[in-house]
Amino acid sequence: MKWNLATRHQILLEITNAVISKTSIQDFFQALAAELKKHFPCDRLSINLYEKKGQSLQYFTEAYGIDPKGISSLDKRPLLKGTIAKMAIQSKQPVIIDDLSRYKDKFSIGQMVRAGLMSTMAFPLIMRNTVFGSLHFSFKTAPPNLSELSELLTEVSKQVAIAVDNLVAYKRLRNKNQNLEREKRYLIGATEDYKSKDFCYTSPQMTEIMEVVKKVAGIDAPVFITGETGTGKDFLARYLHHISPRKDHLFVKVNCPAIPSTLFESELFGHAKGAFTGADSRRVGRFEMADKGTIFLDEVGELSENQQAKLLQVLQERRFERVGDSQPIEANFRLIAATNRDPVKSIQEGKLRNDLYYRLNIIQIHVPPLREREGDIPLLIEQVTLHESHQMHQAAPHYTQQALTLLNAYSWPGNVRELKNFVKRMIILKPGEKVRPHDIEKMIELEEQTCVEQNSYIPTLAESEQISIEQALVKCKGFIGGKNGAARLLDVPRSTLQYRMKKYGIKPEISVQLKDR
Ligand SMILES: Nc1ncnc2c1ncn2[C@@H]1O[C@H](COP(=O)(O)OP(=O)(O)OP(=O)(O)O)[C@@H](O)[C@H]1O
Ligand SMILES: [Mg+2]
Repeated sequence: MKWNLATRHQILLEITNAVISKTSIQDFFQALAAELKKHFPCDRLSINLYEKKGQSLQYFTEAYGIDPKGISSLDKRPLLKGTIAKMAIQSKQPVIIDDLSRYKDKFSIGQMVRAGLMSTMAFPLIMRNTVFGSLHFSFKTAPPNLSELSELLTEVSKQVAIAVDNLVAYKRLRNKNQNLEREKRYLIGATEDYKSKDFCYTSPQMTEIMEVVKKVAGIDAPVFITGETGTGKDFLARYLHHISPRKDHLFVKVNCPAIPSTLFESELFGHAKGAFTGADSRRVGRFEMADKGTIFLDEVGELSENQQAKLLQVLQERRFERVGDSQPIEANFRLIAATNRDPVKSIQEGKLRNDLYYRLNIIQIHVPPLREREGDIPLLIEQVTLHESHQMHQAAPHYTQQALTLLNAYSWPGNVRELKNFVKRMIILKPGEKVRPHDIEKMIELEEQTCVEQNSYIPTLAESEQISIEQALVKCKGFIGGKNGAARLLDVPRSTLQYRMKKYGIKPEISVQLKDR
């Protein structure tokens, strides 16, 4: 066997070509073994990866050829003294042993000899001056041209080092990528509660709003959503994201009042490793996470003036720096903000910065309270009952017409959130049963009690009764009895209603007077 320079180059080129395109470790190793076999016989081929920190070795993949007992486990193993791998790794030089039997009292060499391997060559794998593994060739009989072969294999080991290093980095990146994908799926899944198809509306007010939402979904302008608590601002923000071209990226919600002021910057802009005590690793902030996606700043007016100023700066410049890092980061996010307070009042009270408001308020969407869009109530009750009873594995209750009329007339101070809670309670209390007005009255009384802090004025029971009677008379155009009469609507006998009307001095004509007011 004689290799001149040209042949050696040819062999190296062939090996490189055979392995270069392989992205799987097994494919690479098989191609390498097959290529080497063309030029010289080899009875065992293996690659070890070395970890300096743990002083350990691990096979890159299953060895090719003869498999000596006890030394082929793919698990991590300590880099033991007296092993060929340790000699090559420590010396950073090839180790060539033409007669292994001389060292057979060493455990792993003894095992090789017993398996019939009599000669071996090991080459350190070095990249950027660091040894990260070793390449081993073993033979049943020592090749006659050992030194010539070792020269060729030294060259081969350099090519192998590049390929193995790339494959290890590729594997690491692929794992990282898979983890990120999993994380992303989890984060997107965490908002499963917000399936766009569950967003119900039928009232002209909401239909008009949804037209605007559909129009602005495609453009990147900031959207400011206002509306009372529980009207669906969160839901609408997610809906907007889901129908926008950014839907395959993250929707990142920032609940502004929930962020501790000391962590505000690190939470929003991220931090570098070691930026402050406890910053053990680099952290990606919410703005960076929202890159190509949407960032939703909820209750932005609750932030301190200083925090609002920082936010404004990011919105103006579209770039920011991680805490403890001077490298500016640019993120391509779509901004949606929301508040359940009146923003103009918040400005007057000095809670919301004027300049920030103008930045956020490019497109304002005001979600009206439920009492101003009665048309949505029956649909919401129907859809939420269907959805929740299915979720709770309970039979859906049936609302009588009178019950629905009463619910339509109720003020719903907690809006859709209150309606959802009410419906859930009804599913628990009346599964598969009829829901009548008196079932509702009890619940609504309770709801009103829980709203004591929100509503400054609570009507007495007598006043509520009076209001209900007046409202029923308006609905029934002053009719007391009969199929379409107020008594039926209020679920009381006609005589009872007449007695109460007399007690409160309510006349059937009230319907006309109230309407005209
Ligand atoms: N149109 C709708 N259809 C179905 N469910 C809705 C609708 N609007 C709101 N909801 C539901 O009502 C609940 C409250 O909505 P959301 O959290 O979006 O309110 P919000 O306006 O953000 O309230 P807050 O100001 O208190 O944060 C949620 O469970 C949401 O899923
Ligand atoms: Mg909200």
